[in-house]
Amino acid sequence: MIKIQKGTKDILPADSYLWQFLEDKAREVFSKYGAEEIRTPIFEATELFARGVGDTTDIVNKEMYTFEKSERSLTLRPENTAGVVRSFIENGMHRLSAPVKLWYKGPMFRYERPQAGRQRQFNQVGVEVFGINAPTADAEVILMAINYLKAIGLNDLSVEINSLGCPECRETFKTKLKEVLKPYLNDLCPDCQERYEKNPLRLLDCKVEECKQIYSKPEVQAVIQSDFICESCQEHFNELKKYLDTLNIKYSINKLLVRGLDYYNRTVFEIKSNNLGSQNAVCGGGRYDSLVKNLGGEDTPAVGFAMGMERLISLLGSFDKDITTAFVISNDSLEALKLTEEIRANGISAEFDLSGKKFVKQLEKASKTAKYAVIIGEDELKNSQVTVKNLKTSEQNTIARSDLIKYLGN
Ligand code: HAM
Repeated sequence: MIKIQKGTKDILPADSYLWQFLEDKAREVFSKYGAEEIRTPIFEATELFARGVGDTTDIVNKEMYTFEKSERSLTLRPENTAGVVRSFIENGMHRLSAPVKLWYKGPMFRYERPQAGRQRQFNQVGVEVFGINAPTADAEVILMAINYLKAIGLNDLSVEINSLGCPECRETFKTKLKEVLKPYLNDLCPDCQERYEKNPLRLLDCKVEECKQIYSKPEVQAVIQSDFICESCQEHFNELKKYLDTLNIKYSINKLLVRGLDYYNRTVFEIKSNNLGSQNAVCGGGRYDSLVKNLGGEDTPAVGFAMGMERLISLLGSFDKDITTAFVISNDSLEALKLTEEIRANGISAEFDLSGKKFVKQLEKASKTAKYAVIIGEDELKNSQVTVKNLKTSEQNTIARSDLIKYLGN
């Protein structure tokens, strides 16, 4: 017996209605903001992620599914911002009038240790907005995320924001951080010792207790909590906060929020749930003003987010799924087939018994799968009528067959 791979999951019919719900809501909410769907390939050149996401990140260093084909190194996408940016550049979307707002959904692949809320193949729904420097775009993107979460019924979430500054002001911060941590370098975990050299900002993300204790020392905290960002980055951040305040969006500022991907500058944000274990981020995003240029495009600012759909599903719980509207019941299967098709042709879902079961068994099946039983007994057949039984309330009416569509439609 060949089994499913570790860190992957089947989405079975018992749950697929939840996925369809998330996808329908994405289309509905994001299109209200003028965003259009983009679908990019699931594998891309490895170099795209190495250059895009950053070759000092865990995602690129440890988690990519990379394979060789025709002497090319290819990688299953670990995230979709790099792919969308590649497509934006390749299809000349900078020529479109800004902002260009794109949304997507689909599977991503990361070779991580599977645990609750963390899979090796998982799905994201996300938004990328190109062409706007102003913090209005940051605010709108955060708003799109919150309103999507509201639309699917999730309210009990907290928004965290931070500003990573621009490459210039971040350099000063990195130098100060390295300076204050130098005496503790040998006490840091091996990962942090590497981060210290290659990507000091990522130090703040470490989950190892000994490192966390070092980072909570007063002199280290003084550097972390300092307002290191330059005047224009500060102004951008202040404007964003003003917009969020005006929109009554509650948020907290988390100076430790640095995100695990290298392309961010200025605004970063995460939306977290209190009802998920350690993997509690349902949404992560931020501004990435240099990525389009770094990947060979015109200088184009951008901001976006992605949400983990499995995490959203686990917060949703279940609700009444849409069941078939009508189940046609008759001892004459040809009559049942004809009427079922007529109902379907009018845009209403319908089924009938395909296996030649007795009348009572057909009714039993109907009550499990449909809202209404549409019964064609001998009398009904003679009088061109049908009996419609509401399977929840048991209310029953015999009506003219020609009135059926209107009746079900109502
Ligand atoms: P990310 O924070 O790496 O950002 O992922 C976004 C979300 O995907 C996470 O908050 C989480 O809900 C979900 N996620 C990540 N890894 C896993 C996993 N192994 N299993 C289940 N869910 C997972 C990005 O991917 C950026 N591309 C977001 C972005 C878009 N930034 C700007 N634009």
